[in-house]
Amino acid sequence: APFDLVIRGGTVATASDVFAADVGVRAGRIVQIGERLERGAQEIDAAGRLVLPGGIDSHVHLSQPSGEGIVMADDFESGTRSALFGGNTTVLPFCLQERGQSLREALTGYHALAEGNCYTDHSFHLIVSDPSPSVLGQELPALVADGYTSFKVFMTYEGLRLNDGQILETMDVARRTGALVMVHCENEDAIRYLIGRHEADGDLAPRAHATTRPIVVEREATHRALSLAEVVDVPVVIVHVSNGPAIDEIRAARARGRKVIGETCPQYLVLTAADLDGMDWEGAKFVCSPPPRDKASQDACWNGLETGVFDLFSSDHCPFRYDDPAGKLNPKGRTSFRHIPNGIPGVETRLPILFSEGVMKGRIDLARFVALTATNHAKVYGLTAKGRIAVGMDADIAIWDPEARRTIRHADLHDGADYSPYEGLEIRGWPTTVVLGGKVMVREGELVGQKGDGRYRARTLASL
Ligand code: URP
Ligand code: ZN
Ligand code: ZN
Ligand code: ZN
Repeated sequence: APFDLVIRGGTVATASDVFAADVGVRAGRIVQIGERLERGAQEIDAAGRLVLPGGIDSHVHLSQPSGEGIVMADDFESGTRSALFGGNTTVLPFCLQERGQSLREALTGYHALAEGNCYTDHSFHLIVSDPSPSVLGQELPALVADGYTSFKVFMTYEGLRLNDGQILETMDVARRTGALVMVHCENEDAIRYLIGRHEADGDLAPRAHATTRPIVVEREATHRALSLAEVVDVPVVIVHVSNGPAIDEIRAARARGRKVIGETCPQYLVLTAADLDGMDWEGAKFVCSPPPRDKASQDACWNGLETGVFDLFSSDHCPFRYDDPAGKLNPKGRTSFRHIPNGIPGVETRLPILFSEGVMKGRIDLARFVALTATNHAKVYGLTAKGRIAVGMDADIAIWDPEARRTIRHADLHDGADYSPYEGLEIRGWPTTVVLGGKVMVREGELVGQKGDGRYRARTLASL
């Protein structure tokens, strides 16, 4: 047969167009797009379906050490399986440098965990927590040249946060190498001050997580991160933006001519701080940073997606089990919000939530959906063969049933957590078949691929 695989009769969407076409695949790549393609050794009938580039989730945490006695709910096997079922073909997890560790040592560990265990392709962002002269002078530039072209710095979390001087020095590596810096913007000292006040008042329930990390601490840190990037004169990614005032900072920086990439996540569209108020410490299920806000913030984030403030829509999948001594309800976590591990699962529900709430409700069109969930991630993070349905690209394709009706139930998901923060949310549209490098991995909701089919991908510098 002329093709290994033909996806026939579907509606293809790219970041700029939506059109009816068959997609022909050979040797793992898209080789022809058009009408009435010749026969494929394998054929998928996509009539009535959408044929989209596989999702790229450029913000996920897998197997990341998260404190004494705490274990992340997903390793590379369960996390990428869950990603795959959610219509993704590539994930970018973080490689955390622990203090005193070299970045190479850290990477060796993550590669060992990922190799042979992934259902999706993967690459790593680096988290720089120990910006020593040798790390910034030699190691990091060498790693950028090797294809680790992005790194994240934190302004919060004891043990992770960098001070302004360290952030400037780390950004300078980006200036010298062309790599991209991602910043977690929350003012740690302000948070610690507020935590002190809540503890003095005996106010220790999960809801205090949100009140000790109010919008102002994110707004201030966003402003500062943007200013530091301006001092160094580098582009910057502001990750997991949750509210209007932080969005306004991004808009203002752009108006000054700065190159800023904004990212938001499902939790800022469909959750609020009120979710942290549950009975019996159930609010712990929604503890993530920045915390979900209010209706006005949700509206601001939707507006940011509609108007282009946000280029990236990611999950920030950072899963912990709820009813588990190594998770949200660890012995200390039951006593104070401070000890509830930060992060929520969402790698499988990211795309269905944006599709249902965004495309089906008319807030964004399908081309914008594709840009926000795949194409822009590939451009920003240098995955040159991915993120588009186009000749020559990797045949990473998600076939969606736009009319599928589902209610999110954790029991139907494929991650290693024991709950979904989106339990009960009604969804219209779900990916049914997922193809990775020309290989069918999920067929009509059934897993047919193997772990190990997903491979590591080195990255180029951003094309902004
Ligand atoms: O609470 C969150 N988001 N945990 C994940 C780590 C991070 O800051 O992205
Ligand atoms: Zn690897
Ligand atoms: Zn973060
Ligand atoms: Zn994160």
